[in-house]
Amino acid sequence: MHTRNEKNSHQPLSTRSLLQQFSGVATADGDGVKLTRIIGSPQLNMLDPFLLLDCFESDAAQDYIGGFPTHPHRGFETVTYLLNGRMRHKDSAGHEGVIESGGVQWMTAARGILHSEMPEQEEGLMKGFQLWVNLPARAKMNDPAYQEYPPQSTPLEHRSDGTEIRVIAGQTNQGTLGPVVNEYTFPTYMDISLPANTEFQQTLPAQHNAFIYVIGGGVSALGEDTSVTGHRHIISGKELGVLSKGEQVAVISGDRGGRFLLIAGRPLNEPVARGGPFVMNTREEVMQAFTDFNNGLFLP
Ligand code: CO
Repeated sequence: MHTRNEKNSHQPLSTRSLLQQFSGVATADGDGVKLTRIIGSPQLNMLDPFLLLDCFESDAAQDYIGGFPTHPHRGFETVTYLLNGRMRHKDSAGHEGVIESGGVQWMTAARGILHSEMPEQEEGLMKGFQLWVNLPARAKMNDPAYQEYPPQSTPLEHRSDGTEIRVIAGQTNQGTLGPVVNEYTFPTYMDISLPANTEFQQTLPAQHNAFIYVIGGGVSALGEDTSVTGHRHIISGKELGVLSKGEQVAVISGDRGGRFLLIAGRPLNEPVARGGPFVMNTREEVMQAFTDFNNGLFLP
């Protein structure tokens, strides 16, 4: 007679397949910063618990120099991860710092902060991402909190096949642990670079929502059923692939290799009411956020 554990250990992990692909819409935010909105767009409004994903990428200063002057947030977390460039952030609680290439700022806005994010450069390439991660109702009015890690604190795992993984949150199959601690949505956030024609596997909690955003090259999800089409879809540069539920992600890169973000989190399954920089559970709570902001309650 087998115990349940013995039985499970002999079954292959269920592998996530590609459900949908999105390429985002060009827009501008802050003081005229050009960006591509990939989550939070008409095509992909949200992927619980992820409310928004913006990618900014330009080597023309006029596309980013205006930055994101002082603005409020309430009810969720903002995650800024830079691939190139330097960005200075400041907020109403007295926190200030510079995010650099390979560094991350994971800000739990919760009941509210006012902050700014401004380029710390006047020329050269600025490239990075902002992700909004929702908070559960019980945590939306908590005190704000910060987790900020310079590049030397976001570990880079090197594998024998040439794969490199920068780990912001979660743990790789080889044990590298990201620095971000989050007991609201237990996120995974990894920046993965695969050489050409290389396979990669990562175990994830089976019920977490997960997506891949390809930065360069291309990857295909190995969980895809190819019996009808006879081929696997390639998620190419600047495309987001939503993955099905399952116990692992398995992908293979194409002839040009592939660099991608793998992001996953536990869905909250709560009502979402959005109002610009505020994301609450009800319309009334969003209106209260505007009232509190207008009454100066976001200042320390
Ligand atoms: Co902000």
